[in-house]
Amino acid sequence: MTVNLNYLNQNKERFLNELIELLKIPSISADTAFTQDVLNCADAVAESLKNAKLDNVEICETKGYPIVYGEKIINPILPTILIYGHYDVQPPDPLELWESGPFEPVIKNTEIHPEGAIFARGSADDKGQAFMHIKAVESMIFTNTLPCNVKFLIEGEEEVGSSSLGDFLKENKEKFKNDIILISDTHLLSNEHPSLTVGLRGLSYVEVCVEGPNRDLHSGLYGGGVPNPINVLAEMIASLHDENGKITIKNFYDTVENLTDEERVEYAKLPFDVEDWKNSIGLKDIQGEKNYSTMERISTRPTLDVNGIWGGYEGEGAKTVIPSKAFAKISMRLVPNQNNEEITKLFTEHFESIAPKSVKVTVTTMHGGLPYVLPSSDKGYQAAKKAMEVTFGKEILPYRGGGSIPIVALFEQILGSKSVLMGFGLDTDAIHSPNEHYGLFNFYKGIETIPYFFKFYAENK
Ligand code: BES
Ligand code: MN
Ligand code: MN
Repeated sequence: MTVNLNYLNQNKERFLNELIELLKIPSISADTAFTQDVLNCADAVAESLKNAKLDNVEICETKGYPIVYGEKIINPILPTILIYGHYDVQPPDPLELWESGPFEPVIKNTEIHPEGAIFARGSADDKGQAFMHIKAVESMIFTNTLPCNVKFLIEGEEEVGSSSLGDFLKENKEKFKNDIILISDTHLLSNEHPSLTVGLRGLSYVEVCVEGPNRDLHSGLYGGGVPNPINVLAEMIASLHDENGKITIKNFYDTVENLTDEERVEYAKLPFDVEDWKNSIGLKDIQGEKNYSTMERISTRPTLDVNGIWGGYEGEGAKTVIPSKAFAKISMRLVPNQNNEEITKLFTEHFESIAPKSVKVTVTTMHGGLPYVLPSSDKGYQAAKKAMEVTFGKEILPYRGGGSIPIVALFEQILGSKSVLMGFGLDTDAIHSPNEHYGLFNFYKGIETIPYFFKFYAENK
């Protein structure tokens, strides 16, 4: 089967305009004030699958937000590619730091995107990337060049931990049966150095509470004689890393699979410029685990970070008070072969053990997921590499991503299939941050590359 790019070239503007419409819907899964918008977004995705002439398009109800499904089965003997993406987005705040409205998409040129980038929440993570697949499949269907079967699974709860999707998959194994899963929800090293993500970190996410006196106290009348939960929490958190940047939780590193010396040599060759990286995030200096490169620290090593901390008086002016309680949200990124449930247990035991007797500590599990790796021998990996070599005309570098897509490990456990992470974003696209954007070059490059993946996968399966 040949790849026909005429359809893409003739419909470029329409594709972009349709994406702009999708980006106007504030499908924020974390905030119940936007429930109706998330549901409307599922409708819009279903509509675009129908317009692409997919069959059996369906909005599947789950315990949470619905999953949008569609398929084109041209011949059951041929392989089936399952495309996964998510239509939900992160909350846009802090709103005042956006140069234009998060749900009012605008196209602007940037240094990194001289051909223009579309600014909106979800443009890169993940509506813009999921939409590339819809348009690529539409192109193949309309030009009669679809070489194998395809199924779509676009969910609405990725940014809140995909909590309904696992059960839904278990109950619908046959429906989602596939030979390979293709996902664009990660990024390239750069447009000059295209790459494939061959791993994701796992995640253990907890909330902790340190409870002291039974009410907020006058800090003059009681201060000095009672435990201050915020002071205690700060000390406990500070003790979670040692002077070498290592996590101090007992047995935390026990199962960590280290890179081999050869893998480390390959990693060191990756075109990653620490100076550029530092500048792009406004840092004068960096820090991290001793004896590891920045690239290793942000993708192959486990981490522990506080995501939020609160308690006491946070309003205007000063209030002299010793709070009754202090809280923090803590995430741990995990690497092969760490297990998030075990790590959460180790964290809880450790955190309880370091608490002074004067306070009560509780640890609540939020969500989690297992790490993932894709071996270079995988047929899906090979097809993706070949496809990108054709469209970028460059060597494709494999590296592991530092982020998490917990459902990827579950896909393997439940459906028995591997996922190929062929993402087209850039790490500078500001996903989860103000002014998220997605390069038009990247958007169109994705739509161009996906049909080649289909072709090479179908030929070599
Ligand atoms: N698309 C990201 C994950 C990602 C981005 C992986 C770039 C690798 C490179 C995804 O939407 C995401 O944000 N995942 C969350 C996990 C989730 C449980 C909230 C994350 O990594 O924090
Ligand atoms: Mn994503
Ligand atoms: Mn995300």
